[in-house]
Parts: sequence; C-alpha cells; structure tokens
Amino acid sequence: MKGLQYATLVASAITGALAAPAPAPTAAPEGPIPARAAAAACATPVTLSGNPFTGRTIYANKEYSKEVIAAAASMTDSALAAKASKVADVGTFLWIDTRARISVVEENLKDVACNQIAAFVIYDLPGRDCAAKASNGELAAGDLATYKSEYIDPIVAIFKKYPNTAIALVIEPDSLPNLVTNKDLQTCKDSADGYKQGVAYALKQLNLPNIAMYIDAGHGGWLGWNDNLKPGANMLAQVYKDAGSPKQVRGISTNVAGWNAFDLSPGEFSKATDAQWNKCQNEKIFVDTFSPLLKSAGMPGQAIIDTGRNAVTGLRKEWGDWCNVNGAGFGVRPTTSTGDSLVDSFVWVKPGGESDGTSDTGATRYDSFCGKEDAFKPAPEAGTWNQAYFEMLLKNAKPAF
Ligand code: GLC
Repeated sequence: MKGLQYATLVASAITGALAAPAPAPTAAPEGPIPARAAAAACATPVTLSGNPFTGRTIYANKEYSKEVIAAAASMTDSALAAKASKVADVGTFLWIDTRARISVVEENLKDVACNQIAAFVIYDLPGRDCAAKASNGELAAGDLATYKSEYIDPIVAIFKKYPNTAIALVIEPDSLPNLVTNKDLQTCKDSADGYKQGVAYALKQLNLPNIAMYIDAGHGGWLGWNDNLKPGANMLAQVYKDAGSPKQVRGISTNVAGWNAFDLSPGEFSKATDAQWNKCQNEKIFVDTFSPLLKSAGMPGQAIIDTGRNAVTGLRKEWGDWCNVNGAGFGVRPTTSTGDSLVDSFVWVKPGGESDGTSDTGATRYDSFCGKEDAFKPAPEAGTWNQAYFEMLLKNAKPAF
C-alpha cells in the first residue's frame, strides 16, 4: 500500500512536468521508511489556515494498520479478510495515551506525504477520565508538572522537527465536558485545575504553523442538553483564552469514540421522555447550535466529527451508554464532503476494534457501563484489540467495505 502511494505520487509529478507521455516510473523502493518519506514529504514548511483536510487525506498510521493487517491475517473467511485489509488503508487518529507511546510518533510522522495530514490524539491529562474508570490514565490528579515536562514538551519537540508535515490534533477527549457536567464528582473536582491548565498548556505549546487543533466537546447527548450548551461553550472558550487564543485552534471535535448519527432525523433519542430538554438530537444540530455559542464566547467553532463507529443506530438503551456498544458498524469514511460548512471533515478518531473498556468485573479499571446489557462482552482493557468486535464493525459497516 505504501509503495503504491509512492508510485502514484512520482507518476503524477512526472506527468505534470512533461508534455510528452511520461516514462514509466521506476518501481517504488521497498527500502527503509526514511528514504520513502524523504521523497514524499513537502519541500517547504506547511502553514495551515482554513480547513486543514482540504486537499489532504488522513495518513493511515502504522499502529492501526498493523492491528488491522494482523486481524485480517487471522481470519479464516477469506472474503471477510479481503474486506478487513481495506480498513488498513483508512486514515485514523493515533492516540498518544501514555508517555511511552510518544516513542511511535516520529516513525509515523516520517512517512507522511505532502498530500496527507497526520492525525493524533493528545490524551494523558493528570487524573484522566475523571467520571469513569475504563480509561483512567497513568498520571495522578494534580501531577501537572509531569504532564507538561514529560508528555507535552517531548511531543512538541518532535513536531518541531517536521515543519513540512501537516498535523491535525484532537485535544484531550472528554476532559473539559466532564468539568461541565460531572463537576460535583470528587474525582472531577480533584482533576479540574489540572485539566484546565493542562489543556491550556497543550494548546499554547502545540500552536505551530503546521498544526490544526480541535478541542474535544463531547457530543450532542452530552453538552447538547439545553442547560449544558452555554456552560460548555464558555468552558472551552475560557481555556482557549487562557492559552492566549492560539491561532492554530480551529474549533472542536465531537462524537469521539461515540455512536451518534450525523444527521438522522428524528434523532435516535428524540422519543425519550427527556428529549424536550435537548434540542441537539443529532451531531449536525449539535455542531450548528454549539458553534455560534463558541464564537460569541470568543473561540473558533469549526468541527470534526468521529464517524468511525456510528453506522448502526437504535442499539443503545440510553444515550449515555458509551462502552463497546453491541451491534455497531464502521461509519462513513473520512471525507471533507460533509454538507455543512461548519464541519471540516468526518474523521475516524477511535480506532475501531480497540476496546472502550474491560468487561472483567474484577479489573481495577472495570466500569459498570462496560457490563451493561447493550455492551459487547467479553471485552479487553481500553485501547486493546478486540478481534470479535472488529469483525462485527466490519460486517455492519455502512457503507460496506
Ligand atoms: C481509550 C483508551 C486509550 C486508547 C484509546 C483508543 O480511550 O483508554 O488507551 O488509546 O481508547 O483506543
């Protein structure tokens, strides 16, 4: 796959330069990755303004591709395996979810071509996932110093080595939304200052010309409730302003690791008894409602929406069910054809096949949401591969692979 991308690029470069039919390009070298990257990267520094996904495809990072290729190889059904291997070509976000995980960033950045954009999730705040257990992180609440010096700073140092590469970032999923709706939980109280200061620090330090940032804003069933809309917009805008209103913040990410349909109407939960309190019954309405509030609070309001696992609706018993929803399928592939000028791109943020949380009731990070009736079981620890779940997503994919 990588070889093919290279060959296509060389071929089009040659075609563009010559009037006569171009000679057949020499075979793409299957040599070391740096050689390939040197040929394909942009020749000059990248400055992102406007929609960073326009004219660029999302780089299919090696970490997810490796998982998917291994998954396909272990399948006995060859037709399914053929479909599975196509998933390895989909560009997804790479989650930098621990300090140790920083070690894979550079080998992925090196391989990004000029017509691509690398995509990462910044996800290691102190006291992470304060309202749930499944994704509790490695840094204790309050340990902001470690977050800055051992997590953000080393990532920034790597990104600075690649000024010619376009990068999109989702910033700390769930963190600021939790401070809006779960602020009474002791764990979220303990995390609050670290989240606000940590996110502000990340935005400030990562504000490089070749980077576009999207701060996570939950989803329509979270900050979309009438009572949460304004406090949510104010929370995000406040942290954005605390960071000095960094130029490279483009707006928000929504539905990360989520299940909501983009524009299903009436929305999936519009018949629920509490529906009258939420006018954002799908992600499109949520973005169209939240974005103006962000703007009036002083923050840019463009959005990217995770459509990685939202193909099938009607599966959740309750809107807030978030863990390994049973029956789910891969959704619309990443595209800038969103039909909504506020939505820069549909993206795959959660790598489909990686678990949302363990169903092992004896595990330290067991969260009861992962034991609910509508959750797929058995499921391994958050972030680890669940082959059966991946196969289900593939079979239920819309559009099909
Ligand atoms: C979960 C996990 C995290 C993983 C991510 C993507 O949030 O906690 O470790 O990287 O999902 O699968």
